Amino acid sequence: MGLVWCMAGVLAAAVGQAPRASVVWAADPLEVVAAFDQALDPKTPGSLVGGFITYDDGEKQAKAATRKLRIAAARLEDDGRTLILITDPHPRRARYRLPVPAEGVYTLSGVQADWSEPDDPPESPRWSLWWPRLEFEDVLHAVKGSRRHAGLRARLAKPGRLVLSALVTIPGGRATLHLETTGDLEDALLGDAQAEPTQDAKTPRHGVDLAVDSHGEPFYLSITIRTGVDKTPFDLHATVTHEGEAGARPLLADQLLLPWAPSPVPASAVAAPPPRLGGGDAERGRKLFFGEKARCSQCHSHGGKGGAVGPDLTRPLVLDRAWIYQSIATPSAQIEPEFTTYTVALKDGQVYSGVVRAIDAVTIQVVDANARPAAIKRDQILRLQPSATSIMPVGLAAALGDPAVRDLIAFLMGSATIP
Ligand code: HEC
Repeated sequence: MGLVWCMAGVLAAAVGQAPRASVVWAADPLEVVAAFDQALDPKTPGSLVGGFITYDDGEKQAKAATRKLRIAAARLEDDGRTLILITDPHPRRARYRLPVPAEGVYTLSGVQADWSEPDDPPESPRWSLWWPRLEFEDVLHAVKGSRRHAGLRARLAKPGRLVLSALVTIPGGRATLHLETTGDLEDALLGDAQAEPTQDAKTPRHGVDLAVDSHGEPFYLSITIRTGVDKTPFDLHATVTHEGEAGARPLLADQLLLPWAPSPVPASAVAAPPPRLGGGDAERGRKLFFGEKARCSQCHSHGGKGGAVGPDLTRPLVLDRAWIYQSIATPSAQIEPEFTTYTVALKDGQVYSGVVRAIDAVTIQVVDANARPAAIKRDQILRLQPSATSIMPVGLAAALGDPAVRDLIAFLMGSATIP
C-alpha cells in the first residue's frame, strides 16, 4: 500500500501534476488541516506563512468584501501529504479558500469527534477528529484521503468513550432525530431534548429518539457512545423524521456545523444618528483621535501611526458620516469579522476577552478593551468562543459629546478623500 502510494506520487510528479487537496477541514478555530493526494513541496509551508486564507462572508451589503485570515505558521506531516496551518480564528460560517500552491476549499460544517480511554479525564481526549457527517459509513468514505483519519474503525473497536458534538440545523416544525449505534449510547442531547440516562452499564443501549420543535435555529447536539462494548464493528446512523412526513431523511452536511463555529452575530440596536453630523473641525478631530481622552489611536492607526487592535482608519471601509457615527456610538451593531472579540477560557480557569491573533505555531495574542496584549499558549486554551460585543469601548459617543464626535468624523472623512 505504502509503496503503491509512493509510486503514484512519483508518477504524478513525473507528469507534472500538481498535488490536490482531497479533504480540508478546520480542526479547531485556529487550525486548518489539508490532506493531499501526494506529497507537497517541502518549501510550501514556508511560502504560505504570512499569507492569507480568503473567505467571503456573504454579507448582503454594499461593503461585502473578500475577507482574510492570516497564516501564522505552517508545517507538513505524514511525509508531506498533510499540511497544517495555524491561523487567526475563523470568525464566520463561510467558504474558506487556501492560497496557492496548496489550494483547497472548506467550510465550518461537520462534527467534532473526541475519543478518550475509560479512565481519561473528559477534557483531554486521546484524539480529536473532524467528521464531515454523523453517518459513520459516510464519514469513512469522505475522509478516505486523510491519514489523520486512518484506521478509524479499528480505533473505535477499543474500549473508550466517543463524544460527538455539533450544531444541527433542522427545518422548522416538530422533528425527531433518531440515532442508532452498535456501541452503547450513554448520553444524547439535542437542544432541550435529552435521552434518559441508561439504567445499568451491562445492557448497552443502541438507539435513541430525540424530539424537538424547530424554529430554524441551530440546536446543540452532543452524543456520548461507549465504544468497544462487544465484538461488533463500530457503526452509527443518524436520521431525521419530520412530523407529518413519511420516511426518515439523512442529516446533510450543511445541516451540521462544528460546535465552536461562530453563529452570525446578532445585530444589537443601532443608535439613531444625531441631527447634524457635518461641520466638525478635522484638526480638532485629529488631536482627539491621538489624544488621551478619546484614545482612538490606542486601537486604530491613521496615516501609519497608532495601534492595530482595530481596523486601520486611514481610509474607512465605508465613507459615510452616519456609518462612522454608528461605529463610535454602537460599536457592536456591525462588527468587522476580522475584529471579532473572543472569550478565551484557559484550562487553569483564567478567562481573557479580546481580539485574537495567532502569533506562531504555539502562541496566540489576546488584546483586551484597554489595548493590553496578553500572550497565551495554544495548548492552555480550553475554549475559544466568539462574542457578540465589540471590544471598542461602549459609551464613547456620549462621553465625548456630539461636537467632539463631529470633529472626529470630519477628521476621518477628510483624510479619506485625500489619498
Ligand atoms: C479598545 C480598542 C478600541 C478603541 C479605544 C477604539 N476602537 Fe474603534 N474599533 C475597535 C475594533 C476592535 C473595531 C472593529 C470591530 C467593530 O466593528 O466594532 C473598531 C471599529 C471602529 C470603526 C468602524 C471601522 C470599519 O471599517 O468598519 C470606526 C469608525 C471606529 N472604530 C472609530 C473609533 C474612534 C473614532 C475611536 C475613538 C473615539 C475608537 N474607534 C476607539 C477598537 C477600538
